Amino acid sequence: MSSESGTPRRIPRHVAIIMDGNGRWAINKGWPRLVGHRKGSERVKEIVRAAPGLGIEWLTVYAFSTENWKRSTEEVLGLMKLFQRYIQREAEALSAEGVRMRFIGDRRRLEPKLQDLMAWIEQRTAQNSRLNLTVAINYGGRDELTRAARRLARRVVAGDLDPDALDEAALDQALDTADMPDPDLVIRTSGETRVSNFLLWQAAYSEYEFTPVLWPDFTPETLTEILHRYGTRERRFGGVTS
Ligand code: FPP
Repeated sequence: MSSESGTPRRIPRHVAIIMDGNGRWAINKGWPRLVGHRKGSERVKEIVRAAPGLGIEWLTVYAFSTENWKRSTEEVLGLMKLFQRYIQREAEALSAEGVRMRFIGDRRRLEPKLQDLMAWIEQRTAQNSRLNLTVAINYGGRDELTRAARRLARRVVAGDLDPDALDEAALDQALDTADMPDPDLVIRTSGETRVSNFLLWQAAYSEYEFTPVLWPDFTPETLTEILHRYGTRERRFGGVTS
């Protein structure tokens, strides 16, 4: 991608998306909320397909938060079914397109069948490197940090880690996202301007883009426009402009 002046434009290597607005999209049309999630799942496929062509190497999507269990049983079960179906139906295409799929979040509360499918697709796509797709399921930034702290505390108690050696790099490696680059850009759809417990540690220096578009209406064109805006921004990481 290059700017109008012909100079190369910055492209975010890692884009993370809070996919919001499925429920409202469906309700606005007089349909059950799950119809919005189904359409949202179709949009995930389109964005995954378009991302490599836009220069994105890492794509992380927030599919189910640690707070989403508060929704109706019907909606929670419907979403879990959608995740299963996505893995089963997309496995072939993801492999063919060179997508490596991974998950972050605490899997222990998920149904064993879904956990098995998640492990299966991770293993099946482990050699792919064209796009790294990470799906956050039963994910919360605070929960992730708490689990990481517990992991590190256990190592300290076992005598395997000196508390004074516990630095940012050690904490970073204890997170679900160990070995992943931090997101350059976090997008939230549907007009809400909250972070909602998403990648709290990892997004410390990320740019944020908020769009009023509801997730089921979010197309590769919407993403292209957002990337265009991002390309004109300047990131300073706490420093000053030279
Ligand atoms: C937020 O919209 C969206 C979710 C809680 C679910 C996200 C799930 C998908 C996009 C579908 C499946 C994803 C994959 C990876 C297969 P909301 O329901 O909170 O919308 P609202 O704020 O309008 O109620």
